[in-house]
Amino acid sequence: MKTFKIYRYDPDSGHNPRVDTFTIDLDKTGPMVLDALIRIKNEIDSTLTFRRSCREGICGSCSMNMDGRNGLACTTAIEDIKGDVQITPLPHMEVVKDLVPDLTHVYAQYASIQPWLKTVTPAPSGRERLQSPEDRAKLDGLYECILCFCCSTGCPSYWWNSDRFLGPAVLLQAYRWIADSRDEATGERLNDLEDPYRLYRCHTIMNCANVCPKGLNPAKAIAETKKLIAERAA
Ligand code: SF4
Ligand code: SF4
Ligand code: FES
Repeated sequence: MKTFKIYRYDPDSGHNPRVDTFTIDLDKTGPMVLDALIRIKNEIDSTLTFRRSCREGICGSCSMNMDGRNGLACTTAIEDIKGDVQITPLPHMEVVKDLVPDLTHVYAQYASIQPWLKTVTPAPSGRERLQSPEDRAKLDGLYECILCFCCSTGCPSYWWNSDRFLGPAVLLQAYRWIADSRDEATGERLNDLEDPYRLYRCHTIMNCANVCPKGLNPAKAIAETKKLIAERAA
């Protein structure tokens, strides 16, 4: 038997948040924390609310805080958590309900970096814009980001300044386009980031790299962006 202590909150109810305790038989449950949540929802309390879709670490929907650490519920094994499993929403976010954070602000920040290929030269006729294997390799470690926001919500600078600091997830995405050899808006993108808050609130604390469930390093992408801004000023 394993006990799960799960944060519950329904802003519409007018009641304070609470923690509910559920004890389930692991012999009848799949191996991951998401399997336990689905079982609790199906068999004990259908009002338990959380996001999930792919259940294989691809969609980024099931990010939450388990045992004090941000991660994906679908790739976090129950057996790796000793004792009771404490589950709360991603830290420092408004809560829509239970384990569902309000992502409106982070998505608006993501849209602000214009995450698409920007070009001024006409597209070549009859074929794609090509990229050498070496240039394509520069996107490794960037394109894999699933926008789960485990990193941003684990970043102390983002906790305190999320109104103006873009946070590691969005800055990694911004660098993904800066690093793309086919993109022709690098200067404009760097101008947009050159700001004491949007980029420079990162103090290289490295929580982001420690917590990313895809093994990515947003702090490195941020450092590369700062380097490009410094180089062009020199
Ligand atoms: S390295 Fe920067 S972005 Fe990453 S956790 Fe630290 S302050 Fe946040
Ligand atoms: S960098 Fe990692 S932790 Fe951050 S949003 Fe992307 S996949 Fe999630
Ligand atoms: S359900 Fe898609 S990442 Fe967990």
